[in-house]
Amino acid sequence: MVLTDRLISTRHIDDPFSKDRQAELTRLRLLQRRLDPISTGILKQLGIQPHWRCLEIGAGAGSIAAWLGMHCEDGRVIAVDTDTRFLLGMRFPVEVQELDIRKASFPPGSFNLIHCRMTLADLPQWRQVIANAGRWLAPGGWLVIEEDWPGDLTESSPHPAWQRLHRAMLAHQAAHGLERSWVRRLPAILAEEGLVDIGMSARMTCVGNDDAVHDDWRSRMLEAGPALVGEGLLSEDELAEGLREFDDPGFADFAGAGVSAWGRRY
Ligand SMILES: C[S@@+](CC[C@H](N)C(=O)[O-])C[C@H]1O[C@@H](n2cnc3c(N)ncnc32)[C@H](O)[C@@H]1O
Repeated sequence: MVLTDRLISTRHIDDPFSKDRQAELTRLRLLQRRLDPISTGILKQLGIQPHWRCLEIGAGAGSIAAWLGMHCEDGRVIAVDTDTRFLLGMRFPVEVQELDIRKASFPPGSFNLIHCRMTLADLPQWRQVIANAGRWLAPGGWLVIEEDWPGDLTESSPHPAWQRLHRAMLAHQAAHGLERSWVRRLPAILAEEGLVDIGMSARMTCVGNDDAVHDDWRSRMLEAGPALVGEGLLSEDELAEGLREFDDPGFADFAGAGVSAWGRRY
C-alpha cells in the first residue's frame, strides 16, 4: 500500500460525518452492508476484468476498493479520500491516496473504471469532478456514480411533521449550494460529458426501518436544525415536532431514491 499526498482533513469535528466521531466507522459499515451488493452487481454486469486500472473516489471504509483490489489483481486500484484512516491495512493490493478529489489530477486515459458512491452530493463542485473523471477514463472505460436522490417524495406522506422537515432540509441544502435534484438527471449528465452506453438503476430509500439512511438523515437534521429555524424554513415548534415524529418507534416513510448511473467513454 502506498500513502501519498497526506493532507490535513478538510472536515471539522463539528461535521456530523467526521471520522473523528466514534460512530462514523459504524455508519460507513452500515452503508457498505446496504449498498455493496448493488454496487458490486453493477461492476460485475459491466464486465470487470483482472487487468483494469480503477479509481475509487471517496473510498470511506474501503469495501469497494478492497473488492476492486481482489478482482483486478493484474491491474491497479487507487482509492482516494480526504481522510484515509479507515483504509489502512487493507488485505488487497490497493494504493491509498489521501487527497481532495476536487484538487486531484490524473493523466487523461488513466482508468478503465472510476467508481464514486455517496460522495459527490456533498460537494458543490460535483459537476467539475464528473467532468474530470470523464477525462481520466481510457477509451472504453466506465464511470459509475451512485448517490441518494432526496426528491420530494413526501407529498403523499402520512407524516406531516416529517414532510415539513424534509422540505425544509431540501431548501436549506439548496441554499448552501447542495441542491441534489441533479442526481435524478445523472444519465443525462453523463451523456453531456460525452459518455455512451448510459445505464441507470434506482430503488426507494426509507427512514424509520433502515439504520443507515435513518441515521444519516437524523445526523443531518440535528446539525442543520438551528439553521432551519434561523433561515425561517421552520419554527422551533415545527422542528421539535418533526424530530419527535422522526424518532417515533412507529415511524417509517420514504426518504428518496438510491440512484446508480453509469456510462462508458467512447
Ligand atoms: C458517505 S462516505 C461514502 C464512502 C464510500 N464511498 C461508500 O459508499 O461506502 C463519503 C466519503 O467521501 C470522502 N470525501 C468527502 N469529500 C471528499 C473529497 N473532496 N475528496 C475525496 N474524498 C472525499 C469522505 O471522507 C468519506 O469517506
